[in-house]
Amino acid sequence: MIRKYRVKYYNAFSHVYDRFIALHSKDLQQAARNFLISTVNPSPGDTIVDICTGTGALLPHYSERVGEQGRVIGVDFSPGMLKVARRKTRHLKNVFLVLADVAALPFRSETADAVSCSHAFYELKMDTADCCLREVKRCLKKNRAFFMMEHEVPQNRFIRGLYYLRLLSMGSDRMKEILRNETRRFEAIFDSVEKVVSPSGKSKIIIGRKKEGDLNREGK
Ligand SMILES: C[S@@+](CC[C@H](N)C(=O)[O-])C[C@H]1O[C@@H](n2cnc3c(N)ncnc32)[C@H](O)[C@@H]1O
Repeated sequence: MIRKYRVKYYNAFSHVYDRFIALHSKDLQQAARNFLISTVNPSPGDTIVDICTGTGALLPHYSERVGEQGRVIGVDFSPGMLKVARRKTRHLKNVFLVLADVAALPFRSETADAVSCSHAFYELKMDTADCCLREVKRCLKKNRAFFMMEHEVPQNRFIRGLYYLRLLSMGSDRMKEILRNETRRFEAIFDSVEKVVSPSGKSKIIIGRKKEGDLNREGK
C-alpha cells in the first residue's frame, strides 16, 4: 500500500523532475554526476547498473564509457520516471531500462561490474535499504563495488535546514542513523567500505566493496 503511494508520488514527480533539478542546481548537479562517473570509472565492455535511476541522467554518460560491448541498466520502480529515461536513451543500443523494486533486483548473481545510486538511497525505507544492499552485493562481480552518492551536510545554514527537512521526511530514526553513522548499514553487508568527498565538499560517495580488492584498480 505504502509502496503504491510512493510509486504514484514518483510518477507525478517525473513530469517535473528534470526541470526541478535544472531550476535549483543544474551546474552543481552535473558536477556531482561527473564526480560519480569518474569515481565509478567504467571501462569498455563493463556492465553498469544504476539503481533508482529516475529520469536516467547518468545513463548516456555510462553508455559512452562502456561502449558497444558493454551494457548499462537503469532500474526504477516508477513507470513515469522510466518513461522520461526512455526518451533520453532510446537511441542508445547498450542502455536497458528495468521496472523493478531495488529490494529484489531481477538480475543473476555476479553480473555487474559496478552498481551506482545517485541521490536516492536516503529515500529508501530502512528494511528496503537493507534488502537493496544485499541484492546489490549479490549482483556484483567479485572485487567490484557499489557507489552510493548523496549530498554532504551543506555549509549554508538555509540549505542545511532544507537538507535536514529532507532527512526528517524519511523518519526520525533514519535521520539519526544517517547523521550519526551512515556507513554502519554498509559495513554490515560489504567487505570493505570507504567514503570519498567531492572536491567541492558538496557530495559524498560511499563505496561498498564486495571483496577486498585493489582500490587503485582504476577506481573499481
Ligand atoms: C530523487 S530520485 C533520484 C533519481 C536519479 N538517481 C537522480 O540522481 O536524478 C529517486 C528515484 O528513486 C526511485 N525509487 C525510490 N524507491 C525505489 C525502490 N524501492 N525501488 C526502485 N526505485 C525506487 C524513484 O522512483 C525515483 O526515480
